[in-house]
Amino acid sequence: MSKTPRSDVDEPRRIVITGITGTLGSALGRHYRSLGHEVVGVSHREDALSDACDRIVRNAQRDADDARDLLALDPDVLVLNAGRIETEIGRAGLPLCDATEEIYRLNAIFPSLVVLAAAETPSLRPLDVVAIGSIADGSPSCFGPVYHASKSALHHFVTGVGPIVEGASPRVRVRLYRPGVIRGPLSWAPVLRLDERARRIRARRCEGAPPADEVARRIAHWIDEGGWVGSDAEPLSFRALKTLYGLAPDLYYRLQRLAWRRGSRFAPTKEGPVAGEPDDAFQSGRTA
Ligand SMILES: NC(=O)c1ccc[n+]([C@@H]2O[C@H](COP(=O)([O-])OP(=O)(O)OC[C@H]3O[C@@H](n4cnc5c(N)ncnc54)[C@H](OP(=O)(O)O)[C@@H]3O)[C@@H](O)[C@H]2O)c1
Repeated sequence: MSKTPRSDVDEPRRIVITGITGTLGSALGRHYRSLGHEVVGVSHREDALSDACDRIVRNAQRDADDARDLLALDPDVLVLNAGRIETEIGRAGLPLCDATEEIYRLNAIFPSLVVLAAAETPSLRPLDVVAIGSIADGSPSCFGPVYHASKSALHHFVTGVGPIVEGASPRVRVRLYRPGVIRGPLSWAPVLRLDERARRIRARRCEGAPPADEVARRIAHWIDEGGWVGSDAEPLSFRALKTLYGLAPDLYYRLQRLAWRRGSRFAPTKEGPVAGEPDDAFQSGRTA
């Protein structure tokens, strides 16, 4: 069976969106509100404000109780959009422990708990749980390793557990949308580990990225149309890399080693193991 469009697309629905204060979350909220739907925005911060939703609720998005609290908002569509990337790195470009834990939790573990809570929650209405992934999920990268790994885990979980949830709770559909690069601060984070030449290449991608409003419209359209995994267009390089990763993982690892030596600002030199220091350029906004 292919696509199953929602039957209630013209009726007012309650759309719950996590990460409502962010680039994509606020664009999604504005889009749904403009169509007359009720938008409940979710933020993990006590003091968060947003004009992209009818009301905003606080949810720490950490554990199973938080997951159940989201379901208690009784959504027709629950968009798990909140996500984090590495915005700080350590010596020699290493991921930081706390950030690694938080990125996995927010990008992969918490959405997984929400999916399980949705399967447990009795409801008479159809519920779409839409996790926002990334086209980065198909290929590991030494320039954004924790982000890529967490989005890959999310994609695996949705595809593996979604059919079980559907069998257990036929009203619940677990789905994944994989955006490509979106104009905004998150897309700039990979520059943290890049050398000057590679930074320029990344900058061209970020500057040419579509605005969030355009991506939000595309995602909302896809949600109504049906389909299990939706995706923005993937550049040829992404498709080639994920094919290579699937077919020849050892060769792919070697390619990453080469990429780190060629494109990283921490690449080993003749004088020592690494050049460069930990960088807070992204945090202070200088690169954006
Ligand atoms: N931007 C891109 O190029 C791109 C590309 C592919 C996929 N995506 C995905 O699209 C989604 C939205 O991205 P975006 O560009 O809109 O990012 P963004 O502007 O950085 O917004 C992310 C939102 O996540 C929330 N968040 C951050 N840390 C959190 C935490 N520890 N706990 C709970 N919420 C937290 C923040 O909301 P509060 O702090 O208010 O809670 C923030 O509003 C993410 O899942 C991202 O991975 C983005």
